[in-house]
Amino acid sequence: MNICVMAGDGIGPEIVEQAVRVLRAPALGLTLSFTEALVGGAAYRAHGHPLPESTLSAAQASDAILFGAVGDFSLDTLPRELRPEQAILGLRKALNLFANFRPAMVYPELVDASSLKPEIVAGLDILIIRELTGDIYFGQPRGIRVRDDGVREGFDTMRYSEPEIERVAHVAFKAAKRRNNRLCSVDKANVLDTMQLWREVVISVSKQYPEVALSHQYVDNAAMQLLKNPKQFDVIVTGNMFGDILSDEASMLTGSIGMLPSASLNEHGFGLYEPIHGSAPDIAGKNIANPLATILSAAMMLRYTFANAAAADRIEAAVQMVLRQGVRTGDIAGPGVTAVGTRQMGDAVLAAL
Ligand code: IPM
Ligand code: MG
Repeated sequence: MNICVMAGDGIGPEIVEQAVRVLRAPALGLTLSFTEALVGGAAYRAHGHPLPESTLSAAQASDAILFGAVGDFSLDTLPRELRPEQAILGLRKALNLFANFRPAMVYPELVDASSLKPEIVAGLDILIIRELTGDIYFGQPRGIRVRDDGVREGFDTMRYSEPEIERVAHVAFKAAKRRNNRLCSVDKANVLDTMQLWREVVISVSKQYPEVALSHQYVDNAAMQLLKNPKQFDVIVTGNMFGDILSDEASMLTGSIGMLPSASLNEHGFGLYEPIHGSAPDIAGKNIANPLATILSAAMMLRYTFANAAAADRIEAAVQMVLRQGVRTGDIAGPGVTAVGTRQMGDAVLAAL
């Protein structure tokens, strides 16, 4: 099992280091090899491109990718195709990672870290499946142009083909079957034609999954329902843009965006595993970032790509044990609790393992 490690920018290297330590833990007894590759601002500085050819081929030669984060304010003035974010967008597209799993669960120990009332979030366990290679993120045409009347305008195109909607719908129905048989499809079918097609296609795919109860919500209502009564959801399936927004929102139900892992899969189970948070340049290099989302992403890798549920369970149990012991990084510490550093959190998970 060869893992391509892409630490990236900001806090990326610190959090990825802890996840690699966990994967290497003798207690897990895994035989893994690791290949490092540069992405994002780090790659731009070294090679003049956020996703160099060498990085893409290292990714293609690997069995799975462990990804940290990309993003660097000092490079935000570069042309779009050279900005660090293009690395992750380019990997998703080039490797056809269309199915993005973003679970949000509330650990009992962190109920009070959420900004919502404990009774609203206690026991929450939802899975957002975000389509990741289509939509307004990739639709053409796009650009900034000068109109005939001399006024500048920006434009992007929301686009989904029927096969793109079908394949992510199948992934979502199958995931719902492995959970509690409930799927909520989130769209904006009341306003957008693309989303009308989305709803029609999801309904037609649902005929093959009679055991799954399908519901639909408009995205604005879904954003509200996630705060009002998040436990009504089991699996949510939605497009790229809405999924980006709703998954950040859902992370706050759990207490911290520093806790949420993700898996981005193609149809063969090849995957890129990354925390859903960004590169957080403001706290980079200070040994204070929470590595748990990345460690939990490594667990997802073992579960989904390497079909090693036992090892994944053990990492997740170790994380839970550490939380039960009261070990906290700053983002989940709460008032009066002394926070540990990134590396110490990694030590604690290793000790628990
Ligand atoms: C995410 C991030 C990315 C996205 C950025 C970094 C391009 O916000 O993975 O949610 O918008 O998809
Ligand atoms: Mg996002």
